[in-house]
Amino acid sequence: MKKLFSIICAVILCLTGCTAQTNKTTKKNMNDKKVLVAYFSRADENYNVGTITKGNTQILAEMIGEETKAATFHIETVKPYPANYMQCIDVAKKEKYDNARPEINGDVKVEEYDVIFIGMPNWWGEMPMAVYTFVEKHNWQGKTIIPFATHEGSGMGGMDKHLAKACKGSNMLDGIAIQGSVAQNQQAETKKKITSWLKTLKF
Ligand SMILES: Cc1cc2nc3c(=O)[nH]c(=O)nc-3n(C[C@H](O)[C@H](O)[C@H](O)COP(=O)(O)O)c2cc1C
Repeated sequence: MKKLFSIICAVILCLTGCTAQTNKTTKKNMNDKKVLVAYFSRADENYNVGTITKGNTQILAEMIGEETKAATFHIETVKPYPANYMQCIDVAKKEKYDNARPEINGDVKVEEYDVIFIGMPNWWGEMPMAVYTFVEKHNWQGKTIIPFATHEGSGMGGMDKHLAKACKGSNMLDGIAIQGSVAQNQQAETKKKITSWLKTLKF
């Protein structure tokens, strides 16, 4: 009876959840894996930090890339977002409302990597639409993905769930969300947080 129950549960799980598996931890050592850090990040005027030359998420991406000796890929739109914060808000809002897929510059062969960190800022609890443009170009079957994000109060805000759904067939590990103004202005402290998080992931 117990066995029958387990089989029924397994079938239901497969039928309802055949997107990404979310395995929270891993026992495998990651140092022999081929690792990529792909991220979206916007510099210029932003909330709580004034006008910056390097985006908050990019700061995390570079720290992760350095510590894991990974290749990095910056997801950039062909049409840049306005430098003015309020104008950027207007453009991003319209893209979200339209469920747009803004064109991005270049690409990277995700399929050649084992582990892919994917970074983004929190835009109203949703990934910037350009991240969808990027992930929808690739086959995520069997890949390990690890989200990281910056925000100004909302944390990861469900973006990891959206990412897992968009990366069908992948296995997602525990991500990290750091306040953007902290990443920008307290980099030594931020680096410590990144290092200890990477340790939990066996890097
Ligand atoms: C269009 C837009 C929407 C945002 N929405 C939120 C939000 O809902 N919650 C939040 O905590 N921060 C929000 N922020 C702040 C960003 O998540 C934060 O500044 C982030 O660190 C920016 O990262 P970046 O410099 O890598 O682009 C928003 C910023 C922008 C530009």
